[in-house]
Amino acid sequence: MKIDIITCLPNLFEGPMTQSIIRRSMDKGLVELKIHDLRDYAANKHKHVDDYAFGGGAGMVLMLEPIDKCISNLKSKRDYDEVIYLTPDGTTYNQSIANQLSLQKNLILICGHYKGVDQRVRDHLITKEISIGDYVLSGGELAAMVLADSLIRLVPGVLNNETSALSDSFQDNLLAPPIYTRPSEYKGWKVPEVLSSGHEANIEAWRYEQALKKTEKRRPDLLK
Ligand code: ADE
Repeated sequence: MKIDIITCLPNLFEGPMTQSIIRRSMDKGLVELKIHDLRDYAANKHKHVDDYAFGGGAGMVLMLEPIDKCISNLKSKRDYDEVIYLTPDGTTYNQSIANQLSLQKNLILICGHYKGVDQRVRDHLITKEISIGDYVLSGGELAAMVLADSLIRLVPGVLNNETSALSDSFQDNLLAPPIYTRPSEYKGWKVPEVLSSGHEANIEAWRYEQALKKTEKRRPDLLK
C-alpha cells in the first residue's frame, strides 16, 4: 500500500509516523508512506499556500493551485484509488470504511488547515471526504495520521499475528472482550479461571459472551 499525504505542516508527522508498527511496515516494504509539503508547490516566492476567503469572513483558505499541482505530480507517477480530504463535515470514519480502504493500493490524503480548502478542490480533485468524529481539530493532520495508522495495521503481514487485527473491537460489530496477562492473581484480583483452563472452545465461548455483554452495555447501536 502507498499512502501520500499532502500537508502544509509536514513536521507534525515526524514522531507518530516513524515509530513502532508503522515504521516496521515500511521497513518490511509492505507500506510506503510519503509526506508532501504543500509549500513546495506554492506559485509565489513567499511560499504562501493560503489566502483570504472571497466574500470576506474570518480565516484563511488553502489555495487550489498548489494542491492541484501536487496531486497532478503524484498522478503522473501512478494511478490512485482514492483522493481523500480530511474534514469535519465528511463521512464519519469507522472500521468498515477502514477495512474497505485497506484493500486499496494507492491513496492520497489531503489535510485541510485554517478554514479549509477552496471548494473547487472538493468539487474536482477529491473522491472521498472523511471526518474522524464530530469535533473540530485545528487541521487535518491528526485525522490523516489516525486514518493512516488504522489502515496500515490492516495490511496483510504488518501485524505479526494476522488474527490480531481480526479480533479488534468493531470487527464483526462487537467490542473486544477483556484480556489479561500474568500474574494470574494480584492483590486478590483474579484472572477468570476459564482463561487458564486450556479448553479452547470454552475460552472462545467466554470471549464471545463477554464481547456481546460489553457491546450491549456500551454500544447497543452496533448490534442493530
Ligand atoms: N479536520 C478538522 N477536524 C477534523 C475532523 N474531525 N475529522 C477530519 N478532519 C478534520
